[in-house]
Amino acid sequence: MNHKSVLIRIFLLCAYPLFSSATEENAVLKGEDSGQNDLSTDSHSVGGIIKYNMRKSLDLEQEGCYLKTGKNDCLEKCGFNATAKTIFIIHGWTMSGMFESWMHKLVSALMQRESEANVVIVDWISRAQQLYPDAVNHTYGVGLDIAELLNWLQDEHQLPLENVHLIGYSLGAHVAGYAGTHVRGTIGRITGLDPAGPMFEGVEKENRLSPDDADFVDVLHTYTREALGVSIGIQQPIGDIDIYPNGGDVQPGCGLGDVLAVAGNFMEVMKCEHERAVHLFVDSLMNKEHLSYAFQCTGPDRFKKGICLSCRKNRCNKIGYNATKMRKRRNSKMYLKTRADTPFAGYHYQMKMHVFNKKQSDDADPIFNVKLYGEHKDTADMFVDVHDNAISLNMTNTFLVFTEEEIGEVLKIRLSWEGESDSWSSMWKNIKKNFWGWNANPSKPVLEVRRIRVKAGESQKKYAFCAEDSSKTEISPGEYITFVKCPDGWDAKPKKRVPM
Ligand SMILES: *[C@@H]1O[C@H](CO)[C@@H](O)[C@H](O)[C@H]1NC(C)=O
Ligand SMILES: *[C@@H]1O[C@H](CO)[C@@H](O)[C@H](O)[C@H]1NC(C)=O
Ligand SMILES: *[C@@H]1O[C@H](CO)[C@@H](O)[C@H](O)[C@H]1NC(C)=O
Ligand SMILES: *[C@@H]1O[C@H](CO)[C@@H](O)[C@H](O)[C@H]1NC(C)=O
Repeated sequence: MNHKSVLIRIFLLCAYPLFSSATEENAVLKGEDSGQNDLSTDSHSVGGIIKYNMRKSLDLEQEGCYLKTGKNDCLEKCGFNATAKTIFIIHGWTMSGMFESWMHKLVSALMQRESEANVVIVDWISRAQQLYPDAVNHTYGVGLDIAELLNWLQDEHQLPLENVHLIGYSLGAHVAGYAGTHVRGTIGRITGLDPAGPMFEGVEKENRLSPDDADFVDVLHTYTREALGVSIGIQQPIGDIDIYPNGGDVQPGCGLGDVLAVAGNFMEVMKCEHERAVHLFVDSLMNKEHLSYAFQCTGPDRFKKGICLSCRKNRCNKIGYNATKMRKRRNSKMYLKTRADTPFAGYHYQMKMHVFNKKQSDDADPIFNVKLYGEHKDTADMFVDVHDNAISLNMTNTFLVFTEEEIGEVLKIRLSWEGESDSWSSMWKNIKKNFWGWNANPSKPVLEVRRIRVKAGESQKKYAFCAEDSSKTEISPGEYITFVKCPDGWDAKPKKRVPM
């Protein structure tokens, strides 16, 4: 063979179009008639091959380049750089037999963020496009195959495993787990994006992704709602850190109303929430200066009450690509709220107020709203959600406030009690009229709030707010109290900032 034909052979072996429909090269390579679309070409042979498509160009319509264990010429052709980061993206179960659109987004976000990295798609579509239990059965073999490729790269090219990052979505997360188990040495990082739940929930850690599979295992859980005893995304924590955005169940923007309006298909609701993990990760790659923080908490209910907004002793972490390994933490459950769309990050505030009961208002059952006035922006009135408990009287109430926009430092807070200011008195008037005639004094519930303490999750700053008019600390339906930063001395001691 002359030089030219060798080159052509290498080209045909290592490179053929991935995203475009059949082309000459594809047909030649496979020795088939052209006319096949997408990646489903081998999906009917149950074995199916596993392909490692290294992305070379941001233009995803461009051909990729295929790595093969034992083939040095492919590595060279692909321009594989063994000293750079190597990132493998592993898809999950598929019904369509094609890459879903998130794959393009994730690949291009990774390539933009890490321009020198080797970004490789692990294409096991033919084994993933089967009945779910069969696809599950293939995860082990695919993981093993990845481990073999990595072992060869270590042996032949001194690939440092600590530079390897596997990113697996759904079933792909458990594929990454098997790869981590079987590779020689320890992979640097595995990110599980809503790892699959069915047939993995509750199984021993050898048979699912676990913290043992890499030096750092971070997991995003976005669809852990149970239906008929199973959850699409695994519910249990299986990494070093396990982040449950929006409690890990109802994702904003994925409600029946939101999604059906667009897609009209119940499957789309599921897909929206399951796939949200990928989009949060892509968001973290693209918006690296505006990251979401997650806060450690024992459960979603305590988080919703605003109890867990601490960053002390590694209790908070950045979500997505910038997440950092924390010493001696495993299965650490972390929570945050997000916006419905990119950029997903918002701002969390913990608020505490003691509500004093004046004048026998035990049954007042107030509905409070707060409005924050910030350095840059003011918020709308936001419902004070003390989470399925009513406001407790003569007690300190803690609640979480989430703003979608950056308002800057909080300057003023308005606490209002929903209701018409005279509705109570008119109601009382009516009652009293009926019992005692016109002359009885109307009475209305009166509560008192003297100050509100605020802690900002993102900055970890703490403030105390006092009534602007110190003689106006009482509130009745239809009224409000305005709070401003307490004069010196009331200020809470500044705490350590988050290491950002
Ligand atoms: C390979 O990657 C390393 C580390 O990112 C970089 O310093 C080096 O320039 C790269 N080599 C080539 C040929 O791109
Ligand atoms: C899983 O695959 C093995 C062979 O690799 C086979 O013996 C077994 O029956 C399969 N199990 C299921 C549930 O398909
Ligand atoms: C995230 O990491 C990148 C480097 O990869 C850095 O430039 C950026 O500042 C980090 N963002 C935050 C908020 O720490
Ligand atoms: C709260 O305290 C007030 C005055 O001290 C008292 O009248 C009222 O019964 C108490 N209410 C509750 C719910 O404990």
